[in-house]
Amino acid sequence: MLSYRHSFHAGNFADILKHIVAVEILEHLTKKDKPFEYIDTHSGTGLYNFKSAQARKLEEHAGGIGKLQQKEYPELTRYFDVVNSYNDKGQGNFYPGSPLFAKYFLRPQDRAWLFELHPEDFKTLCMNTSRQRKIKVACSDGLKGLDGLMPPASRRALVLIDPSYEIKTEYNQVFSAIEKAHKKFATGTYALWYPVVDRPTINKLKNKFIRSGIKNIQCFELGVRPDSDEHGMTSSGMIVVNPPWGLFDKMSKLLPKLAKTLGESDELIYKCDQLVDE
Ligand SMILES: C[S@@+](CC[C@H](N)C(=O)[O-])C[C@H]1O[C@@H](n2cnc3c(N)ncnc32)[C@H](O)[C@@H]1O
Repeated sequence: MLSYRHSFHAGNFADILKHIVAVEILEHLTKKDKPFEYIDTHSGTGLYNFKSAQARKLEEHAGGIGKLQQKEYPELTRYFDVVNSYNDKGQGNFYPGSPLFAKYFLRPQDRAWLFELHPEDFKTLCMNTSRQRKIKVACSDGLKGLDGLMPPASRRALVLIDPSYEIKTEYNQVFSAIEKAHKKFATGTYALWYPVVDRPTINKLKNKFIRSGIKNIQCFELGVRPDSDEHGMTSSGMIVVNPPWGLFDKMSKLLPKLAKTLGESDELIYKCDQLVDE
């Protein structure tokens, strides 16, 4: 059933965008002492080894974090601090997944809820999060889990939704899950990752958000190749509901630079849009 394994893709250009945006939001949440919750509906294993057989098969990280590390990015100090914290000095074999990016920012007062449906990946995720009391890990459906957690006790949260979109209906499911959660918890920050494999599918997804009545939605997209009818992901994006102040400015400066570093064509491929005003 679940054939997608993130270990084949970790550290690729899509992970870079997703995790940079997550770091910005998490950093913002830690600016106040008040507790927050991190909810990751599709967690993966938490930590990836570039020397593993899966990573070596496609070497996707070479076109992602590999390229990024060769350039100067002072504006990504925090992102690199997190990546480096999971690597011994001078070694760059490990790349954190979204749960370990979040774990880096969690303080004693904060909580994390991680969902992972694949039984093997769930086991690895449990090991990688060291069974900490403030982190709850469940081998169950993340979108149902999200519904059960709304509204979170702290009333401050980042919800990261990062499915593999193996099933076409997932595009509708993620939108419905955010719409439902937003009705119970309108002030939460929701970050949804999407791949651009078929542009009309993404346009439909964005239009759903635009017509939803939900306010304050931004969208960031980074591509390595122009859209094409051929199979494969050319770009990926993050739709962010209730983004922190400053995220749009930061991404509008960063995206052209990232597109230049990671792009495979002469054209700089990125989007930075306020989908719905505040
Ligand atoms: C793209 S990966 C997640 C990567 C991770 N968020 C990161 O950034 O490191 C998607 C994961 O969701 C898991 N998954 C698929 N359907 C799920 C569901 N309904 N609920 C929870 N996890 C699911 C897959 O097994 C896979 O590990």
